[in-house]
Amino acid sequence: MHDPKVLRTRHLARFQAEPALFVAPGRVNLIGEHTDYAEGFVMPAAIDFATLAAISPRTDGKVVIYAENYSEERTFDAAALPAKASKHWSDYPLGVLAILAGEGNKIPGFSLSLWGDVPLGSGLSSSAALEVTTALAVTSLMGVHYPGPVLARLCQRSENEFVGSSCGIMDQFISANGAEDHALLLDCRDLSFKLAPIPANVALVIANTMVQHAVTGGEYTSRRAEVEEACAVIARHRPEVRFLRDATPADLEKWGSEMTPNALKRARHVITENLRTVAAADALIRHDLVELGRLMAEAHKSYSHDFEGSCVEADAMVELAQDLPGLIGARLTGGGFGGCTINLVERSQAPAFAEALGARYAAKTGIKPQIHICHASGGAHRIE
Ligand code: GLA
Repeated sequence: MHDPKVLRTRHLARFQAEPALFVAPGRVNLIGEHTDYAEGFVMPAAIDFATLAAISPRTDGKVVIYAENYSEERTFDAAALPAKASKHWSDYPLGVLAILAGEGNKIPGFSLSLWGDVPLGSGLSSSAALEVTTALAVTSLMGVHYPGPVLARLCQRSENEFVGSSCGIMDQFISANGAEDHALLLDCRDLSFKLAPIPANVALVIANTMVQHAVTGGEYTSRRAEVEEACAVIARHRPEVRFLRDATPADLEKWGSEMTPNALKRARHVITENLRTVAAADALIRHDLVELGRLMAEAHKSYSHDFEGSCVEADAMVELAQDLPGLIGARLTGGGFGGCTINLVERSQAPAFAEALGARYAAKTGIKPQIHICHASGGAHRIE
């Protein structure tokens, strides 16, 4: 049902009102993992999995949200929206409303239908897609326009402050600002970015290990705490280092011994990952796919060994891809501890690559993976 016409028809039938339609994509990160909250660099691309929103105004002061994926409707008073999350899918749209209200917007009554095909808990940013499409739909209904980077920041805040996940800006940013057939090198310090074209003969092959990951709580949060702990050690000597973005490999040489072994390893990952990410964007822009693949391989090693953000299945998925024809580079993508690997593959070889990788992975782990051949899509927008 990626077809917005179907969502429109269903919205019309359910709410007897013609909706405006919006879409926001999920994302895959080519390189730059756990660097965003350290004010570093990331290079994601938006993908063709997305969340659609259909919205129409109401005159009864109610906010009615229907999730097609769960066949479930929730109704609230626009004037008395929940101030706290309840561990329910509605937390994501409600979080966006809470942040928009906090920005001084009066939330009107509306009916909102949501439908998405971004696989959940797979590291492809289903939550960001949901937040961004909601934000776009609601602001457009209110007649308010936020530029893409500002909208992304509001959606990140809704996840940090309302949903309670300590994520960085990457996912919301690329969902709001992605560009067709391009990866985006984002400087998470000032949100400046550079687009890097993905050559037409390169496919994004996304391989889902089927091991679920969660950003809220757990390992993501403890890794982030270790990154901040390492930064605090360096800052004792160099107060100008506010985030690991400001630190260098030389800082680790000098002061790494004052860190706990885990903090040292996490910092080594983040500091080298920032260097790799900038170099990878450069390689992509120069069309040097061999160098890009080499950097992706190094990034995976660092993510797995130093950051300890991988898992047996994801390591196997990367390993099993290595000698398959057409592979340019492979690594675990997203928050870690499961989810998907990203494989850059020569497009003509992609179908055979996907089939062979799936068969190898199933034979090795006993798990049947989902493998998707994607292309870089555009960012969130209204569908006319
Ligand atoms: C998740 C978070 C992002 C980022 C990645 C790791 O996707 O939402 O902000 O930290 O993990 O790179």
